[in-house]
Amino acid sequence: MAPLTRISIAALACLGASSAQNQIPIPATKPSHIPAIGFGTWNLKISSKNTSSAVSTALRAGYRHIDCAAIYGNEKDVGKGIKDGLKEMDLKREDIWVTSKLWNDHHEPDLVENALDQTLHDLGLEYLDLYLMHWPVASTSKGSVISYVDTWHAMEALLQTSKVRQIGISNFSPHQLHHLISTSTHKPSVHQFETHPYLQQTEWVKLHKDHGIIVTAYSPLANLNPIYGSPGKSKDTPSSLLENKEISEIAEKRGCTNAQVALKWGMGRGTSVIPKSSHASRIEENFDALECDLHEEDYDVIHEVGKKYLKRFNNPSEGWGVPLYEGLDGT
Ligand SMILES: NC(=O)c1ccc[n+]([C@@H]2O[C@H](COP(=O)([O-])OP(=O)(O)OC[C@H]3O[C@@H](n4cnc5c(N)ncnc54)[C@H](OP(=O)(O)O)[C@@H]3O)[C@@H](O)[C@H]2O)c1
Ligand SMILES: *[C@@H]1O[C@H](CO)[C@@H](O)[C@H](O)[C@H]1NC(C)=O
Repeated sequence: MAPLTRISIAALACLGASSAQNQIPIPATKPSHIPAIGFGTWNLKISSKNTSSAVSTALRAGYRHIDCAAIYGNEKDVGKGIKDGLKEMDLKREDIWVTSKLWNDHHEPDLVENALDQTLHDLGLEYLDLYLMHWPVASTSKGSVISYVDTWHAMEALLQTSKVRQIGISNFSPHQLHHLISTSTHKPSVHQFETHPYLQQTEWVKLHKDHGIIVTAYSPLANLNPIYGSPGKSKDTPSSLLENKEISEIAEKRGCTNAQVALKWGMGRGTSVIPKSSHASRIEENFDALECDLHEEDYDVIHEVGKKYLKRFNNPSEGWGVPLYEGLDGT
């Protein structure tokens, strides 16, 4: 059983702009803000049982946010893990925060609610706390003629249903974000994008703070995901965070692991982090990053690490033939 301290930390560790700031009515729900640390579910599909077990392990460890997506192809197994985890921990649906994402092939405004219904059906849930547009890119039969603004307007309409509490975006560029805000009623509550010590994007993160938009940091452990290729593969790929000298020194000084240092740094700068692991020991280790006590000087050292290395690991721009992340670092 997870010790109680884990749970109280999870309950306290919420980030958030107030609903007033975002002008999005948040129905009575707890957590009403996105938790500082959540559990990622991409590539979590060794087997159905393994996926469900990782998710229920995460809930037992204290995570109260599960980050899902239709394209991950595992929402049924993730949903089973959520159901099992809630039962084992004697929690209710409203005690946790569940995010999912609209895939590119359902950007046609008429298809948006169907996509949401499918995700809810697969996850076995009645509502999502947060529904994100996964990419500002449509890949439907009408392709590029569908603007992400029209897709967003269809997502805004979902707020009138009981099926989503908040809506947001992922992988938008500065121009796309500004265009979206200037043509919509609702600002995104959350923007999920890649950021970690090797891709800090300090100004970009700050701009969101100024707009009252929460940033969720995906791939918070940088190049640990095997799908990004082995560390050190090319000249410009920095060594894994687990082998980074500066991060290791901080970890040793503070009695944390390297992964915990990277995650706590992410939370300390005001982003919510969503590490993924299929191993129980790492799932727990990552959650315990909440207790890793970083000092001001550690943030300074990591800031310097970001000047030394700059690497974006997730960029399907070439494969899709569309420019992404225009105006941002690491493109
Ligand atoms: N919106 C988007 O477009 C987008 C894109 C990418 C990711 N995401 C979300 O963000 C989540 C996290 O990103 P990510 O999966 O790319 O990268 P990540 O969480 O930074 O790294 C995951 C990798 O790190 C390993 N790992 C995890 N904890 C570790 C630890 N304590 N020590 C050593 N290795 C560890 C995992 O291995 P094992 O699993 O083998 O333990 C896995 O290979 C995803 O699962 C997904 O939910 C969203
Ligand atoms: C998932 O499968 C891997 C590989 O067999 C195993 O090492 C890991 O412990 C499993 N994870 C869970 C949570 O069952």
